[in-house]
Amino acid sequence: MKSTVVAPSNIAFIKYWGKKDEILRLPCNGSVSMCTSGLLTTTTVEFDESLTEDAVSINEQEVLDFKKDKVVKHLDRVRKMAGKDIKARISTSNNFPSSTGLSSSASGFAALSLAATKAIGLDLSEKDLSILARQGSGSACRSIPSGFVEWLDGATSQESYAHTIYPADYWDICDVVAVVNQGPKDVSSSVGQESAETSPFFESRKAHMPAKISEIKGIMDKKDFTLFGELLEADALELHAIMITSHPSLIYWEPGTVKLMKFCKQLRKEGLEVYFTINTGQDVHLIVEKGNVNKLLERLTEIPDVRETIVNYPDQGARVVS
Ligand code: PMV
Repeated sequence: MKSTVVAPSNIAFIKYWGKKDEILRLPCNGSVSMCTSGLLTTTTVEFDESLTEDAVSINEQEVLDFKKDKVVKHLDRVRKMAGKDIKARISTSNNFPSSTGLSSSASGFAALSLAATKAIGLDLSEKDLSILARQGSGSACRSIPSGFVEWLDGATSQESYAHTIYPADYWDICDVVAVVNQGPKDVSSSVGQESAETSPFFESRKAHMPAKISEIKGIMDKKDFTLFGELLEADALELHAIMITSHPSLIYWEPGTVKLMKFCKQLRKEGLEVYFTINTGQDVHLIVEKGNVNKLLERLTEIPDVRETIVNYPDQGARVVS
């Protein structure tokens, strides 16, 4: 009754923000992302009849109650599906910093969903796994399928899941993460999203999101990198405009974040085509074609705020390793 899984994080090109159902985590809009090869969570789940409560460790440390609660709640979903009331030992580790905008909850809940269902003896379809992962952390549903992925907003739980729109080898693009600062953010995505509706711009975002999803898919069909980059950067800025104008306001940027946004525009002027996107944190994801990765890495050495870079190609979704 033991299983070990590796799951990637993912970077959204068109982002999810705001829930129409808090409990089921049904999003207000669909989103499009890519599984990232260099941001990985490895999770082992072992169900053990002799345990009296779940034991959870992250990066070999016992976890705090609030994080443990989310994990235990997720295991309860799995136990209910399997009709078994057995406690588990969970150990999980990330190969990247947590809570700085690199979506460790996406890789974490995708890995936990697959490892826990396998360990308890369930064999879920990719769709059902994605639905399960979504209930742990919304964007985790996009780390179950491989490659380039769309999460359908859906009116019900059964209709809101992620599926592959193109395999990982469809397009040679890269997400170079510039880690700006290794400190954790002060407001989690889950808490931040609760205030989305308080932004005066949120209704207008919701109204044009279905058209935006169709637009990006049309652009991806043609592999038009310029239109793709312009649209994903505009979507990130629109999302942060919502965050900044929410009540209470959410400002995830650090000075280094802004420096990188401006640097990215400067690089484009100089002929290096790179676009940025940012999640709930200070780190910046720089989207570039594969042939320009080394040039970009070299240029990033000019910015002292960049503490570390992580190169990500499109990759597989969650997979069992033992
Ligand atoms: O799934 P959560 O609660 O970690 O929210 C993710 C929100 C963003 O990263 C900002 C956007 C996205 O679509 O990944």
